[in-house]
Formats: sequence, C-alpha cells, structure tokens
Amino acid sequence: MTISPVGRLEGTVLPPPVLDVSGLTISYRDQSGTRTAVHGIDFSVAPGEVVALVGESGSGKSTTAQAIIGLLPENGRLDGGSIRLNLQEIAGWPQKRLDGIRGSVISLVPQGSGQFAQSGQDDRQTGRGNPCDPRQSLRRCR
Ligand SMILES: Nc1ncnc2c1ncn2[C@@H]1O[C@H](COP(=O)(O)OP(=O)(O)OP(=O)(O)O)[C@@H](O)[C@H]1O
Ligand SMILES: [Mg+2]
Repeated sequence: MTISPVGRLEGTVLPPPVLDVSGLTISYRDQSGTRTAVHGIDFSVAPGEVVALVGESGSGKSTTAQAIIGLLPENGRLDGGSIRLNLQEIAGWPQKRLDGIRGSVISLVPQGSGQFAQSGQDDRQTGRGNPCDPRQSLRRCR
C-alpha cells in the first residue's frame, strides 16, 4: 500500500503531528512463507485532523491500524519503520506498555463493529452476523 497526502494546503504551518508514521513495513507469516502486506508507508495526523486511508480490499488498511495500536495477529510482524505518537516512538514497545495507552490515548474501532453490536453475532470464520462481510450477500450491506 502506498499513501498519497491530499487536501493539505501548501505552505500551511502545522503543529507537531499527533501521529506520525514513516516507513512502516509489516509482514505476515503462514504455511506458504512470509509475505509483506504493508510496504514502507508514511503518513501523519495533525491535531484535529481527520485522515482516511483509502484502498482496495486487502491493501493493508486494517493491518496498518492494528500495527499502530499494537494489535497485530500472532503471525503478523512489524518489520520496520517508525510510529510516533505525540512525538514518542512507540514502534517496538512491549505489549504491556502498549496496553497502558490503548483505550486511553489511542483506540481502534474495528470495521463492522456496529453491525456486530446490532446483530449480537460475531462469527469471524464465516462472516455470519456481519452483513458487510464480503462472504455474505453485499445486497444486505446498506
Ligand atoms: N492474519 C493474517 N495472516 C496472513 N495474511 C493476512 C492476515 N491478515 C491479513 N492478511 C493479508 O494482509 C493483506 C492486507 O490485509 P488487510 O486486512 O490489512 O487489508 P484491508 O485493506 O484492511 O482490507 P479490507 O478493505 O478488506 O478490510 C491481505 O493480503 C490479507 O490477505
Ligand atoms: Mg480492513
């Protein structure tokens, strides 16, 4: 995934970013080997700014968010790059330390969480209970 900044005025002086991600590279390991899912992306979020990562399915948006918040799946690995939260480098922090900021300083609302809350079901194996899961009929996802 590559990121192109849009909508930022040339010459605008911004305060230090709340979140500054640079060169973030993430891979997954499975039976077939190791595959890089996120290839050295850079972006930052200024105070009060809303930044959207837009990309096709599988381009690495969730992987990026999970890595930032320290919630990569077991087989996911942060291979390189920097994640600075309020000017502090948090890439490589141990889980326990990340637990201390997750929910209070930085949070992640997983995709489909509203749908799961409404249906009361959450079957990640089949996508049942999540009308927006690609394995279910897209006509139901409105
Ligand atoms: N636990 C995992 N093990 C192996 N590969 C994975 C794992 N999770 C995600 N991937 C792969 O990493 C890539 C990025 O997936 P990711 O879920 O981050 O994409 P996404 O942009 O969030 O997609 P979507 O728009 O469908 O939510 C995909 O090729 C996906 O198959
Ligand atoms: Mg996703």
